[in-house]
Amino acid sequence: MMMLDERANLKNYEEALQTMDWQNVERQFTWSKTGNVNIVYEAIDRHVVEGRGDRVALHYTDGSREESYTFTEMMQLSSRFANGLRSLGVQKGDRVFLFMPRSPELYIALIGILRMGAIAGPLFEAFMEEAVKDRLEDSGATVVVTTAALVSRIRSRELPQLQHVILADAVEKNEANQILYRELMTTSDAYTIEWVDREDGMILNYTSGSTGKPKGVLHVHDAMIHQKLAGQWVYDLQEGDIYWCTADPGWITGTSGGVLSPWLNGVTVVVRGGRFDANEWYATLEKYGVTVWFSAPTAFRLLMAKGERQPLQTYNLSKLRHVLSAGEPLNPEVIRWGMETLQVRIHDNWWMTETGSSICANFRCNPLRPGSMGKPLPGITLAIVDDEGNELPPNRLGNLAIKPKWPAMVRAIWNQPQKYEKYFLNGWFVTGDSAYKDADGYFWFEARVDDVINTSGERVGPFEVESKLVEHPAVAEAGVIGVPDPLRGEVIKAFISLRAGYEESDALKEEIKQFVKTRLAAHAAPRLIEVRQTLPKTNSGKIMRRVLKAWELGLPTGDLSTMEE
Ligand code: WT7
Repeated sequence: MMMLDERANLKNYEEALQTMDWQNVERQFTWSKTGNVNIVYEAIDRHVVEGRGDRVALHYTDGSREESYTFTEMMQLSSRFANGLRSLGVQKGDRVFLFMPRSPELYIALIGILRMGAIAGPLFEAFMEEAVKDRLEDSGATVVVTTAALVSRIRSRELPQLQHVILADAVEKNEANQILYRELMTTSDAYTIEWVDREDGMILNYTSGSTGKPKGVLHVHDAMIHQKLAGQWVYDLQEGDIYWCTADPGWITGTSGGVLSPWLNGVTVVVRGGRFDANEWYATLEKYGVTVWFSAPTAFRLLMAKGERQPLQTYNLSKLRHVLSAGEPLNPEVIRWGMETLQVRIHDNWWMTETGSSICANFRCNPLRPGSMGKPLPGITLAIVDDEGNELPPNRLGNLAIKPKWPAMVRAIWNQPQKYEKYFLNGWFVTGDSAYKDADGYFWFEARVDDVINTSGERVGPFEVESKLVEHPAVAEAGVIGVPDPLRGEVIKAFISLRAGYEESDALKEEIKQFVKTRLAAHAAPRLIEVRQTLPKTNSGKIMRRVLKAWELGLPTGDLSTMEE
């Protein structure tokens, strides 16, 4: 049985640079012949039509549930879900959000939403009430799928557009707007699919910048072209692979890299619910015979720190063929650990919510340079540009920039066209990272150029945290930065000044941490709080995070001419 196209894996990088043409990738899709477009057809239904329906699409495990679903079952169940959404009046282009921990229902719902042409909005389960409200409000979501444990964080009354709350796991409902998943799934079992335009909205990912509230990054069905190729060339997916990406679908890695890239290539996906646990993770790799594994530096560092010293003596990981990392800088030390302890090379790859799929990678067929993010995916023009958007020569530090447009590129910032325009400079898409390119064309990450914090691979906007901090009665002003941390990459530190009548104490700091944790999200709460009399501000009253960072790192504060007296 021939599944993947013959030119599936990347064998010669230089040659691919010469011959690469996105139109050749487009020819791999059914729609290039039929004209009928929907990512779900290419990721799920096509495998059934072409005789691969009995293959497992999803192995799910979390310690209490253990289930497997074939491509045929995914097609049937997601059709049911799509029919259910239609019965609620959901239409093409409507936003349907997913706010729940990983479970088979999450993936069935995701595929069901895309199947009927609606736009899916995945939300990380750690978000608390106000963070959930901001995102549902901005997107104008009409339906949210959630669980009995999380539903109390959805303030339906303050969200007039929100019509239905689907409870994925409940057996009874408490409010008039609630619907039980199990009932919805009985609406109709007829096969259904809505054909869309290649440029129609598919997934709306909320992410953080350095200013303002989180922004909705809109991806369209055309992203499938890039996601399929990344599966073949970056993740090196092959016939018969068992693929496990540990990212949560609340983040782009968990949807694009977690299920879309592999399913577009007909590959079986493993999903493990629940929290990180070194032994459980090794057991999962062994149990399913995972061949391709995608995780993140923080997770690898946790395995290094807490895991078995010699996992290969306890677990049989002999099936593991290709290992990937993304989301944060991958230290050479972690690569060395991987070689020694797991006997695998860990391949770093770089991308971001806005890029929709992998952009730069250490490809299997290229020599690996530990510490480098590798080379651009053939078909992508990646460069280092100065602040005017002029390309810089090798070995010069500058802005990492991409030539628009590539298939998985963000198409809009929801409701905020002016924010979208800000990404572009002199014909380049500017990523917000600084990096350089060496003489051999390998890219090396340096830092974020803006104030965005990357903690355990999760992107946190300082503004959202600061806004929450100043809602606490004791906090007068707050400035939030990321400080280097050996395990998590960065941890969040808040500098605050107190209102009159409040005294600094450990108890107060703890209370403030909890305040952010319970109102915003655990991963966005500061681990460190430092109280200062005053905070450095510009004449216009903006907190100067750059100065806070310099204080923290004991570096020179630089130009202070705009600082308030
Ligand atoms: C930011 C984007 C893999 C996509 C998920 C994260 C940082 C991402 C790497 C890497 C160093 C990396 C960048 C980027 N980042 N991959 N391989 N090496 N840094 O998507 O949440 O939008 O975050 O993550 O700073 O801008 P995101």
